[in-house]
Amino acid sequence: MRQTQRLTSDEVGLARAAEILRGGGLVAFPTETVYGLGADATDAQAVAGIYAAKERPSFNPLISHMGSFESAQEQGVFDETARRLAEAFWPGPLTLVVPVAPSCTISDLARAGLDSVGLRVPAHPLAHALLQKTGRPVAAPSANRSGRVSPTDADHVLGDLDGRIDAVLDGGSSQVGVESTIVACISGTPRLLRPGGIPREAIEALIGMKLEAGPDGGKSPLAPGMLASHYAPRARVRLNAASVEAHEAVLLFGPEAPKGTDAGRITLNLSKNGDLVEAAAHLFSYLRQLDASGAATIAVSPIPETGLGEAINDRLRRAAAER
Ligand code: TXA
Ligand code: MG
Repeated sequence: MRQTQRLTSDEVGLARAAEILRGGGLVAFPTETVYGLGADATDAQAVAGIYAAKERPSFNPLISHMGSFESAQEQGVFDETARRLAEAFWPGPLTLVVPVAPSCTISDLARAGLDSVGLRVPAHPLAHALLQKTGRPVAAPSANRSGRVSPTDADHVLGDLDGRIDAVLDGGSSQVGVESTIVACISGTPRLLRPGGIPREAIEALIGMKLEAGPDGGKSPLAPGMLASHYAPRARVRLNAASVEAHEAVLLFGPEAPKGTDAGRITLNLSKNGDLVEAAAHLFSYLRQLDASGAATIAVSPIPETGLGEAINDRLRRAAAER
């Protein structure tokens, strides 16, 4: 259990909230859509804490909240359409999914291993002030436990997360009450990934074209490979490995290693002392490193199904299945 502080919407509260975020803690804060559960997006261990607090059984890419369009452009690559949308609707209830920039500092875990990044500049004055003070991208899903409704005031947040997060910045009620509209500008026609606070019509009027349907946004299914919603390694992934072949790359968890691990091509340990939060923080970057070794197979030692282990195993099972 943590002691969850309720912070007031003044200079003292804001300074404390920014300090907690910069120290790797969890702070719920108001945006004009819903309250977000924030962590330093550049700190994978802090981001893993979001999943632990929410008890979310799988890793989704998270929205990184930014203080300005300028700082967002350090994280993502904005094509002409994305730039026009950002200039028209930011700050506001719009999230843009764009390719990662070479200078991107947002952690693999916050992006769920993808080469794209979800960015939003919220309009709520407290959110804006907090992001300016923190000076880093802040990853934040809605500040509720998994499976519950999104919170629109500090009492809702505490009802779900009291004792599980470091603080909530109390800014009264969120006005919009539904999540941000998510538009992907990755290649070709922009796609509506999720309807939300900015109506589709307003976006289409601005860019002068129809948005294509995304996974939740519309009727027609996405063409495979057009917008991967999950990172899939090139190598085959073999779960619950009891032993390792010489040509395999190895992903360990905990102090025990499967037979033959020493002969493996390359070995990384998600957490030597079996800490699932640390393991979650390393998951996507380690998968990428093992994949880059050129090994045809990544052998993964067993990981418990408790706590964040459920989300880690969910992700690994998808990686093992997607071919
Ligand atoms: O209003 C909102 O959007 C709130 C406030 C806190 O900002 N946040 C929110 O976050 O609703 P969340 O985690 O519930 O929804 C984030 C969604 C993911 O489920 C995913 O669909 C999409 O954003 N997303 C983020 N990054 C993405 C990416 N790189 N590729 C595809 N989808 C992405
Ligand atoms: Mg949510």
